[in-house]
Amino acid sequence: MTSTDSIKDLLQRARAEVRKVIIGQEAVIDQALIAIFTGSHALVEGVPGVAKTLLVRTLSRVLGCEYNRIQFTPDLMPADITGTTIYDMQRGEFTLVRGPIFTTFLLADEINRAPAKTQSALLQAMQERRVTIDRDTHPLNSNFTVFATQNPVEYEGTYPLPEAQKDRFMLKIAMSVPGRDEELELAQRMLGTDSPEAALAAGAVQQVISEADLTGARTTLEAITVRGELVAYIVDVVRATRASDFVLVGAGPRATQALLLASRASAAIAGRDFVTPDDVKSLTAPVIGHRLVLRPEYELEGVTIEEVVTKVLEQVAVPR
Ligand SMILES: Nc1ncnc2c1ncn2[C@@H]1O[C@H](COP(=O)(O)OP(=O)(O)OP(=O)(O)O)[C@@H](O)[C@H]1O
Ligand SMILES: [Mg+2]
Repeated sequence: MTSTDSIKDLLQRARAEVRKVIIGQEAVIDQALIAIFTGSHALVEGVPGVAKTLLVRTLSRVLGCEYNRIQFTPDLMPADITGTTIYDMQRGEFTLVRGPIFTTFLLADEINRAPAKTQSALLQAMQERRVTIDRDTHPLNSNFTVFATQNPVEYEGTYPLPEAQKDRFMLKIAMSVPGRDEELELAQRMLGTDSPEAALAAGAVQQVISEADLTGARTTLEAITVRGELVAYIVDVVRATRASDFVLVGAGPRATQALLLASRASAAIAGRDFVTPDDVKSLTAPVIGHRLVLRPEYELEGVTIEEVVTKVLEQVAVPR
């Protein structure tokens, strides 16, 4: 069995486990697994009740690694995330109390409900995979991965993530409301005893991905071929965002790297050892969308990021 076959196989097992809880949302599940296989952080966005939290909790079971959840609230302080040193009276010395960030897989739930100072404590740790507490620096797990959820509508009392910080998320996973059939299935499950929440609580989801699998997957991804023309295509797509009339701030160089990595993962989960233009196209919106700032006049007109990404893709010649 080649390595790409084993990634495809791993993905299929992971999908099957997630499906025991999450109904539909196929593209969402694949994007989440792309983030996990590439060791990247993801932003999960959607209106209330579309199972953002439930998805990440389910993924934590599939991974079976150490998992923590931080519920972001307006009064959450940076030290509530990273930890603090306290003076131990009996021992007469300072001891470190590690915060919930010291884990492998972290759910940062409703990240835009805490103020910027607290958000940046997390975002900085995501970038550097280490934290500084009272001047001492502590490394985080090398597989440290954050899935942060947020609501797309900026309600009163929410703090939108600073544009520069969004760049730290490899992709933004957009969860939309289920279609009628899916909502019907959900309603029917709720009637019985096998509601999605109950299935998760009852231990229906098995761990199918180990840390060794992740390490192996990452090595395999490095071996996936990206033709020179496709590398150029990725660069041109990212550059086209900066030239677009609709865009005030385009995607930076980190986007190029992210799109390259995500495209390789997309090829791997399809069981291929080479990237195609479709891998790139299907991941452009999730990887690049959240890094763009539209010109206010177009935003007011109701132009969406998705429309702009589509236009950008139309402008760049696809290699044959
Ligand atoms: N696609 C789905 N598959 C399974 N369950 C779903 C799905 N969509 C909604 N649900 C149900 O909706 C409930 C709410 O999910 P969850 O709390 O994860 O939503 P959320 O997106 O995190 O909402 P909020 O933004 O309010 O935190 C779940 O417990 C589940 O019962
Ligand atoms: Mg939630």
